[in-house]
Amino acid sequence: MVAAAKRYGCRAVGYDIDPRRVEQSRVNAKRAGVENLVKIERRDLFEVDLRRASVVVLYLSPKSNARLLPQLERLAPGSRIVSHQFDIRGIRPDKVIEVYSKEDRHRHTLFLWKTPLNY
Ligand SMILES: C[S@@+](CC[C@H](N)C(=O)[O-])C[C@H]1O[C@@H](n2cnc3c(N)ncnc32)[C@H](O)[C@@H]1O
Repeated sequence: MVAAAKRYGCRAVGYDIDPRRVEQSRVNAKRAGVENLVKIERRDLFEVDLRRASVVVLYLSPKSNARLLPQLERLAPGSRIVSHQFDIRGIRPDKVIEVYSKEDRHRHTLFLWKTPLNY
């Protein structure tokens, strides 16, 4: 999210239920100089209306991804969903890619979808 705001100048809203993660993310956004573009809120993701998002980025457990499905189905057509490491069970991704992170020197799997979702 911070990287996307830095590279593309897009606005982003991040949610986490853990206050330490929220604080850490706010520090990251400030360090990257994008605190004007990135808002981090302490919220339960399952109570958030995601319909205004054009891109939703997830790094949740497979169980949480599945639970989020009703909210993802309400996204406008053409919205994009990116999930780090875990797929959404039962929903066919449009693409699965592997990226190498210079930060942790590991390969990461990204699952990509465009709405409407394909079962
Ligand atoms: C695998 S970690 C990802 C951490 C970090 N967001 C990242 O991208 O590196 C999953 C995160 O989901 C958060 N989380 C789990 N359930 C949540 C919920 N219901 N609402 C908001 N955040 C939640 C956890 O607190 C945890 O920080």
